[in-house]
Amino acid sequence: MSGKYMNRFRLDGKTAIVTGGVGILGRHFCQGLAEFGANLIIVDLDQAQVDQFASEISRQYDVQALGIQCDVSNESSVTAMLAKAVAKFGKIHVLHNNAASKTKDVKRFFAETERFSMDDWREVMSVNVDGMFLVARAVGAHMLKNEIKGSVIQTSSIYGILAPDTRIYEGSHYLGTQINTPAVYCASKAAVVGMTRYLATLWGARGIRVNTLIPGGVQSGQNSVFTEKYSARIPMARMADPEEMVGALIFLASDASSYITGQALVVDGGLSAW
Ligand SMILES: NC(=O)c1ccc[n+]([C@@H]2O[C@H](COP(=O)([O-])OP(=O)(O)OC[C@H]3O[C@@H](n4cnc5c(N)ncnc54)[C@H](O)[C@@H]3O)[C@@H](O)[C@H]2O)c1
Repeated sequence: MSGKYMNRFRLDGKTAIVTGGVGILGRHFCQGLAEFGANLIIVDLDQAQVDQFASEISRQYDVQALGIQCDVSNESSVTAMLAKAVAKFGKIHVLHNNAASKTKDVKRFFAETERFSMDDWREVMSVNVDGMFLVARAVGAHMLKNEIKGSVIQTSSIYGILAPDTRIYEGSHYLGTQINTPAVYCASKAAVVGMTRYLATLWGARGIRVNTLIPGGVQSGQNSVFTEKYSARIPMARMADPEEMVGALIFLASDASSYITGQALVVDGGLSAW
């Protein structure tokens, strides 16, 4: 089935860059974009992983996919990534700025606030904020130069607009460690919302839309204590499945949202409504 309204969601003939493309959500985002017809540039830290995932995508969907190793916090790495992407596909129509860091040693990411190291603070900021800006700046310049009516989607978090309820973390484990939501995560994800509004208003008249995607907590192997305590704070009484983030991304990436810019689309099971 197709039709003039359904077709607005299609991305055939468009090319999308997804940063953090082999992460838990990134893989679903890439699959969703490919299913709606977009060619893909899958960007992440490890060349073997992006190559492998790009071949999976091209086998599974009727699109072309290219994996590019890139550290988004490194200016020359971002420049080289965009040059490779443009050499292969010519034009980039969609950017999903989605990479985020939990520091190289994940235990440090979950350190107590009063002891949080400034090196770790800067490491997270260098990816979540600087890296997001570096990629938006490079791809935005490419879209402006080529007069592409592009869509940029930047992943923030529910903790970019709300503080975490720290009471839920007692006994909560994930990735082999006791967890919390660190201040640097909230600060960096709040910065994404501000950056998005700025770029949206700056580039709006040139046809480039910029929106924020705000996921709530996604089930990805957290222990049952966390899952239960988190779910108790959610009107829908559960965590999200990763697949549930994809519809919002497709909507923002496609012409279905052609008059929406500078907004934040919250996919949180109702958490922020309470
Ligand atoms: N999973 C959740 O519950 C949740 C909730 C709210 C927001 N988010 C946000 O959604 C996005 C995706 O989250 P996820 O759960 O898939 O996380 P993830 O950690 O599985 O994926 C993040 C990806 O970013 C990559 N990355 C890290 N540093 C990088 C760098 N310097 N350059 C390039 N790539 C880099 C990692 O290698 C990883 O593949 C993130 O922005 C995250 O903050 C996730």
